[in-house]
Amino acid sequence: MNKLYKSLGALFATALILTIGISCSENRAAEAKKGTEETPGTSNIDVDVSEVIAEIQPTMYGIFFEDINFAIDGGLYAELVKNRSFEFDKPLRGWTVLKDQGLGVRTLPMNTGNPRNPRYLRIQIDETGSGAGLKNEGFRGMGIKENIPHDFSIQVRGVEGNVSAIRIELTDSQDNVIAEGRVNGITNDWQTLETSFTPSKTESNATMNIWFEGEGVVDIDMVSLFPTDTWKGRKKGLRADLVQLLADMEPGFLRFPGGCIVEGFDLSQRYQWKNTVGDIDERVVTINRWNFEFDHRPAPDYYQSFGVGFYEYFLLAEDLKAEPMPIINCGMACQFNTGELVPLDELQPYIQDALDLIEFANGSVDTKWGKLRADMGHPEPFNMKMIGVGNEQWGPQYIERYVPMVQAIKQKYPEMQIIAATGSDGSIFPNGEEEIDYLWEQWRKLQPEIVDEHFYRNPDWFRESADWYDDYDRNGPKLFVGEYASQSVGVASPENKNNWETAMSEAAFITGLERNAEVVTMTSYAPLFAHAEGWQWTPDLIWFNNLEAYATPNYHVQKLFSTNRGTHLINIKEDGKDLSGQNGLYATASKDEESGDLIIKFVNTTGQDKQLNFTVNGVDALPDTGKLLVLKGDLSSENSFDGANVKPEERSVKVGGTTFSIPSASYSMSVLRVQMSDLGS
Ligand code: AHR
Repeated sequence: MNKLYKSLGALFATALILTIGISCSENRAAEAKKGTEETPGTSNIDVDVSEVIAEIQPTMYGIFFEDINFAIDGGLYAELVKNRSFEFDKPLRGWTVLKDQGLGVRTLPMNTGNPRNPRYLRIQIDETGSGAGLKNEGFRGMGIKENIPHDFSIQVRGVEGNVSAIRIELTDSQDNVIAEGRVNGITNDWQTLETSFTPSKTESNATMNIWFEGEGVVDIDMVSLFPTDTWKGRKKGLRADLVQLLADMEPGFLRFPGGCIVEGFDLSQRYQWKNTVGDIDERVVTINRWNFEFDHRPAPDYYQSFGVGFYEYFLLAEDLKAEPMPIINCGMACQFNTGELVPLDELQPYIQDALDLIEFANGSVDTKWGKLRADMGHPEPFNMKMIGVGNEQWGPQYIERYVPMVQAIKQKYPEMQIIAATGSDGSIFPNGEEEIDYLWEQWRKLQPEIVDEHFYRNPDWFRESADWYDDYDRNGPKLFVGEYASQSVGVASPENKNNWETAMSEAAFITGLERNAEVVTMTSYAPLFAHAEGWQWTPDLIWFNNLEAYATPNYHVQKLFSTNRGTHLINIKEDGKDLSGQNGLYATASKDEESGDLIIKFVNTTGQDKQLNFTVNGVDALPDTGKLLVLKGDLSSENSFDGANVKPEERSVKVGGTTFSIPSASYSMSVLRVQMSDLGS
């Protein structure tokens, strides 16, 4: 196996071993601390409604979207046919030839001459009969729903003989037929034939057979099957249950398309947005870089059909009322893999891609790329305001490419906000923190509007780092904590769990992000989605199978912060100090000018129930009751398809006057909302 080919896997594995070592001993220490250390059972906390520290940006809590773990093909994109256009490395990957005994069937992958859709499949049926066909296995099976019409389509032409019809069958895991359809009228010209049928049964592991009737030679391409109960009922659209989970988070932004997928294992595999827009059969199927990344989770059938491409990402952002945040390749492949660089004198096409992307998103319909957006169904601009230049890039090579790219963007679009990277978490860098220091030196000079930082650390680190941004320069770039997730075992370890300890530790850390809303303006957990059978990386925010999805404890933490953000950060202190982990307590307070609510979020990371005595200054009196939302569980609690062990519970609590006490359960996160008539000045 090519050594470089595996280097990200190797790097994550090294980080994993180191982290396992560190996290095991740290966890033991923390465990000991949790069990024995007595912390005060009561805390006296002062909130000052009249003292606004900062605005909390509407973008504070958003979504990081990357096609990893079969997040799109096999996931969000509701297409049920895998390798529908025969473009995978093996043209028949995902397909099996079906034939009756004695029937001669030959499949010949043919070249179209069109580099954007290079293959179709020729099927030669040598004997008359109705027993020649193909089976598609779907993405670890197909999720088929009873009583929901499914749309089938195929591009087909007859070449010789009398094959005039195709019969379609959906079969359950026992091979019983649960739906049938038929398309007729095959001619010698390419045409798209379509039909719809409604399954008689729900099945998570269905397959689809297509049978050719007659004998001769027939060509096929773009074989497709979609359920019709998609998000907003859009034809050939997205899985509604998965989008709904995103919508419920009320995200402030949508970062896409990643992640390392932006960079590619090498430059040939980088994400090229122009290959992902326009007619669906002209989008260039590309290997997914997570196909071969991890030896422990190989996914040879992981490709990108780009049925969800940049147009669909922009549309999704619009549906979610989230700011679109595309990240663009800056002439560098993933530095954890090949680190391949485009020579500086050949950077122009990459720069042009960035400029054209802005035109695609925002340009008038009279421009080349604005017209394409309009032709695709969206004449109005998408109103994109920011662009990420590179994902996890570092070293002088990054700066050499960043500078001309940003100069060109700013020259044409001075209002565009630039997101610069700091590579990743310094703990997994080849040269450790040096790389981060070098980049920050550059950012202090170059002053991008926003700098993106990533953290994949153990739960202890998250609990201990709520003060991480306390000393960041208030006059420098704003901070985007673009990827973070607490790793229960080690970075990208397949043993990592989305348990309550990781989620609660993230909650503690997030109070620190919000408390620093003056500099931290955007944050997102990573990765977002994982197919329960097809994943490569864990932990992840949302797990799904072919029919269902469940929200992890980490998701509930994200959602509680996002849906209880507040518009203005206000002062909250214990004994004049921020609540950033003293005695295992963390807290922030905000007021929300839209709802008129005072919002206090607090996290108790100790194994001890506490009583929090609040004094609220800056208001005359509080109403008698407030709403308390609580997330809690055993540290090892996880959610699953069978049910949620950790989910928010809501109850009414007594407040009133300007002092009141609220319980804070052991190992819990709580949100208190009190409707205020007078929110202070
Ligand atoms: O979130 C998974 C990966 O972690 C992302 O693709 C990358 O940016 C980071 O290394």
